[in-house]
Amino acid sequence: MKNRKYRYCIIALASIVMLACSTKKTYKISSPEKVSELTFELTPSGQPQYSFSSNGKSVIEPSLMGFEFQGLAKMTDGFEVVSTEEKSADETWEQPWGEFKKVRDHHNELIVHLKEAKGEERLVDIIFRVFDDGVGFRYEFPKQPHLGKVKISNEITQFTFKDNNEVWWIPVHRENSYYESEYRKTLMSKTDTINTPATFETKDKLYVAIHEANLTDFASMTLLKTSDKQYKSDLVPWADGVKVYAETPFKTPWRTIVVGKNPGEVATSTIMLNLNEPSKIEDLSWITPSKYIGIWWGMHLEKYTWGQGPKHGATTKNTKEYIDFAAKNGFDGVLVEGWNEGWDGDWTADGSAFSFVKAYPDFNLEEITKYAAVKNVRLIGHHETAGATKNYESQLEDAFKLYQKMGVNSVKTGYVNKYLDKKEWHDSQYGARHYRKVIETAAKYHIMIDNHEPMKGTGLQRTYPNFMSQEGGRGQEYNAWSIDGGNTPEHLTTLPFTRMLSGPFDYTPGNFNFDYKTPSGAKVQTTLANQLALYVIIFSPLQMASDLPENYEGKPEFQFVKDVPCTWSDTKVLDSKIGEYTTIARKDWDEKNWYLGSITNRNARDLKVALSFLDKDKEYEAEIYADGAGANYKTNPYPVTISKQAVNNKTVLNIKLAAGGGTAIKFTPKEK
Ligand code: NOJ
Repeated sequence: MKNRKYRYCIIALASIVMLACSTKKTYKISSPEKVSELTFELTPSGQPQYSFSSNGKSVIEPSLMGFEFQGLAKMTDGFEVVSTEEKSADETWEQPWGEFKKVRDHHNELIVHLKEAKGEERLVDIIFRVFDDGVGFRYEFPKQPHLGKVKISNEITQFTFKDNNEVWWIPVHRENSYYESEYRKTLMSKTDTINTPATFETKDKLYVAIHEANLTDFASMTLLKTSDKQYKSDLVPWADGVKVYAETPFKTPWRTIVVGKNPGEVATSTIMLNLNEPSKIEDLSWITPSKYIGIWWGMHLEKYTWGQGPKHGATTKNTKEYIDFAAKNGFDGVLVEGWNEGWDGDWTADGSAFSFVKAYPDFNLEEITKYAAVKNVRLIGHHETAGATKNYESQLEDAFKLYQKMGVNSVKTGYVNKYLDKKEWHDSQYGARHYRKVIETAAKYHIMIDNHEPMKGTGLQRTYPNFMSQEGGRGQEYNAWSIDGGNTPEHLTTLPFTRMLSGPFDYTPGNFNFDYKTPSGAKVQTTLANQLALYVIIFSPLQMASDLPENYEGKPEFQFVKDVPCTWSDTKVLDSKIGEYTTIARKDWDEKNWYLGSITNRNARDLKVALSFLDKDKEYEAEIYADGAGANYKTNPYPVTISKQAVNNKTVLNIKLAAGGGTAIKFTPKEK
């Protein structure tokens, strides 16, 4: 296993406090540096309840916990504490790719063993892990005589705030099934059921994100507003109404609450990753973060079609030209969509026609992959299912086997349909099982996955590092066909503090031509410099340069897209205001060059950025791609000024961002 452990010291505090049927009602556990504190207690009716504070400020007020089942008595109250355990962990582990090379897992743990005081004396344990920047907790139902197979009908975990706070949120299933909405910021009272991650700004100026970690064989947690100050877990159901089918022993995903004094602290929290299991894949040598281009934007612009015909994009000839372009410009992969049978007609209606092993006659898979290999480029595979997961699963082994034979080592998957198999939600337990099966099968064939129309990320890439990236947000494609005109500049300045909290996003940045015309009139609403900055702002270890090759030819700004890495040894979120502007600095995997991306919403602004993140005692050359004179996202997105400047960690840069604009910088240390 390559997840090398630097320090591993689980100190079981051995305080296995046997309090059998204790009268003690309140248990407190604080984080390692005493920044945050979790309180657990039983209410007078014996219902579990928790609250959480940070630096003495309330984050979560007393909130009830428990589960209800179909056909079984609920497990919400009537409990007594059998015993508690406390543990501490301080471990630093290494990621094969990510926003940080090393991740420290430093927490204190409280396990509360609960038993129904009367009747069947059923058991449940609640495990809390308290970090300085938040808490994760999960329920574990041990094997026991009076609880075997269950149908969970309701989880009643509450998240109660002191006030009716502001929240950045997207709705559940109302607009689409896979999180492709722009985030709105409203008071909690103005929401209904919202997805996680949901990010709150409290009246005490704390930033709080509620989400979950390690969603395994369970339904996604959404948040149902139960009062102006409170949400309750609302699990996504199966079509038959059951939320989760389970059998003891089983455990729920971790419910996570991350807290920061500023948005950046929330964005760089590693709680989600720490609450997932270490890698199950031992040999990680085949897992390689990489940048790619693709026969893709052409379809969204209707220059090409996925299906057969005179405009078919996935032809052998076209693909070879893309491979040539990739080879010339140092891209590792070429994605080709529409290569396989099943796209003709309305492919979104019913995915049962998709074959994942039969290519269209004008696409010679063998010839193409051989051609690519000679040029040191890989074909990136594509499996669009249109939500027909049964059809896909029936071909899964053969499909990955074929790709492996052809040297294809990454596959983009897709599930464009309101439902999976015509009736189940993508983010239900049904979806969780399917997506996991795909990741595990892909791993068997040494294939990396980039999943579109997914269920939200919960940090599973720690356990399956071949699970590289996901969509699960409004990506660049909306700028080709969305009837609302495309993604707003605010969408991009919100993403780092909302969607990105759930992991890598295959947004597909890199638009260089703003003069395309599509029937919807949609348009990329940023400047060109902003598109460059997105490579630093939006993390994806499979990162695309999404525009047509001809739009990159001869453009000096393209150098930044070629230079910028897609995996980082370190990440610092600098001064940022959610939805207004954000600046992120990241260090490359070799721990040599730094990069910086800064973007603004529709308002132009000047920022002073202290470069104190740069290594001390080093002089750097900054290569700056800034909005040029007169640039703005509405009428003049093109001007970019490229300049060089000597800087060090004492330098304060003045950054001028145009409306919808951005700045992208590469910092190279000077050889002494
Ligand atoms: C939706 C995906 O997000 C997009 O990238 C892809 O081109 C289409 N589905 C077709 O699979």
